[in-house]
Amino acid sequence: MRNMRKTTLFVGIVAGIAIALLAGLGTSTQTASADAGPHVDTGTDSTPDKCASCHRIHTGQNEYLLKEAGSETDFCYSCHGTGGPGSDLAAQEGTLYGGAGDPYGDPYGGKTELATVGLRAGGFDAARIDTTDPSAGYGSAAIGVLATTETVVSNHAIDGTAGTTWGSGPIGSGAGEPSVTLGCGSCHNPHGNGQYRILRPVPVGAPGAGYAIPDTYPKAAADYATPDYLNMYFGGVAPANPIVDDRTPGVSILMDTSAWCAQCHTRYLAEHHAADPADASREDSGDPIFTYRHTSSGYGYSSYRDPAGFKFNNRACITCHASHGSNASMPGPASSSVEWPDGSVVNPPNDLERASLLKMDNRGICLKCHNE
Ligand code: HEC
Ligand code: HEC
Ligand code: HEC
Ligand code: HEC
Ligand code: HEC
Ligand code: HEC
Repeated sequence: MRNMRKTTLFVGIVAGIAIALLAGLGTSTQTASADAGPHVDTGTDSTPDKCASCHRIHTGQNEYLLKEAGSETDFCYSCHGTGGPGSDLAAQEGTLYGGAGDPYGDPYGGKTELATVGLRAGGFDAARIDTTDPSAGYGSAAIGVLATTETVVSNHAIDGTAGTTWGSGPIGSGAGEPSVTLGCGSCHNPHGNGQYRILRPVPVGAPGAGYAIPDTYPKAAADYATPDYLNMYFGGVAPANPIVDDRTPGVSILMDTSAWCAQCHTRYLAEHHAADPADASREDSGDPIFTYRHTSSGYGYSSYRDPAGFKFNNRACITCHASHGSNASMPGPASSSVEWPDGSVVNPPNDLERASLLKMDNRGICLKCHNE
């Protein structure tokens, strides 16, 4: 009973915040454009108004003088929660709002959910990934979108549960960094920073040197979502290959996001880096745990088709994994009992099923590229 009263009260607070914040947002924008909403870099504005949407100077109810007593996740969900109360990007349920006839942008809430696309990152509580999509073959393989959401099985835990940042740190440094608690702000900068999806170049707690993804990718409302979770290039179009080794950010979202995920999961990043076919997956990294690794950097040397050279490819973190969470499940005994990198079979926070944010059930993801 106590809990129920708390919950009801909390919903009231959250709705109040969303409305108060939205009132402060000013004129209507018709696109879900980057750094929009309250996440605006104030730049040269000497009298910014936004601060008051989130902070109280003498009467803060939380650390960092935040005006809301709930967790940071609750705070973000007051706009990015189920139903899209304060943004069309409902990260909690992996859904983009603003159907035919509905304008994108504010006013938020009460719009139609889009059933033909799903948010690129998947979702934290629910997602629309067609995790049993049977399509296969070069040029035909895809991972479609479900018309209705399904409950998520694994996610980056933002509910306060601690877990291990697998593969964090240099070669030979163990399974990863234990007891890490994530929040939305571990990866995103709530103040806006002019980077792609306001991602922090150095995520909180990351041992990496930092990787800034420039905000140069398309950002119409539909670009925050995808109709195909296998091909994560914007518009499904692969960028032109550099052939010479050129790692300029802002060209391939697959290369960029892999380099970014590896700021935390350092030792998961692997690529073909030379003409020698005996590298990448057949090269011993020297690490006793992450010893041989599937290519994952979305980039590398390829002799396939003329000319040979450095090319973008789809072997990237976000081809196989959803960034926020996935509804894929692991009913098969082999897939569900894979040991974690530290050798354990049970590990919080996702120890119910070993689903690992994958986009297909069991190892269906392998068949999207290999036809064994
Ligand atoms: C007052 C409502 C509100 C709150 C609170 C809020 N957001 Fe947003 N957010 C928005 C709006 C509005 C947009 C622009 C998209 C749209 O029009 O729906 C946006 C956009 C974003 C984007 C996309 C940015 C880009 O570069 O394209 C991210 C990521 C994001 N928010 C994360 C967060 C996180 C993390 C929190 C909590 C720290 C948070 N938001 C809290 C309203 C909010
Ligand atoms: C969308 C909500 C939001 C808005 C708008 C906002 N903040 Fe914050 N702020 C946060 C959150 C959440 C934190 C907690 C720490 C973190 O995640 O960076 C924070 C932390 C801070 C901090 C301490 C940590 C740091 O990053 O330096 C300062 C100082 C700060 N805010 C100042 C401001 C000022 C000044 C403005 C207006 C120009 C502003 N904030 C607008 C949400 C917001
Ligand atoms: C582990 C890092 C991480 C955490 C934690 C995280 N995000 Fe994200 N988020 C990302 C990445 C990476 C993307 C870009 C995905 C893409 O474009 O493929 C993203 C994208 C988004 C978007 C744009 C829509 C989309 O699906 O691409 C929104 C909105 C957003 N995040 C909000 C949030 C909120 C709210 C939270 C907390 C409840 C949160 N994020 C926690 C990494 C994270
Ligand atoms: C070709 C598909 C694929 C790519 C690319 C990929 N992963 Fe994975 N990942 C998997 C599978 C499958 C698992 C489940 C464990 C297994 O089967 O070994 C997994 C598991 C994980 C785990 C959980 C711990 C573990 O090792 O089991 C983490 C963390 C992870 N991946 C991070 C990443 C990061 C970061 C990238 C990009 C640098 C990446 N993955 C690229 C398929 C992939
Ligand atoms: C801020 C550091 C950080 C960043 C950046 C980050 N992760 Fe993680 N990741 C973690 C932590 C901590 C865990 C363990 C706790 C959990 O699952 O939330 C984890 C767990 C995972 C897992 C295992 C989930 C399971 O089943 O328990 C996968 C897979 C994964 N991350 C993939 C990714 C991918 C892909 C990206 C880039 C889009 C990424 N991570 C970016 C910190 C990070
Ligand atoms: C996005 C496409 C893609 C996915 C998904 C994928 N692979 Fe691969 N895999 C490749 C390609 C292409 C190669 C060849 C090396 C390279 O360029 O990465 C490869 C190489 C390999 C190799 C090494 C072969 C050799 O000659 O050294 C193995 C083993 C393998 N994959 C297994 C798997 C398994 C198991 C899964 C599912 C967990 C999987 N792959 C998912 C594309 C993929």
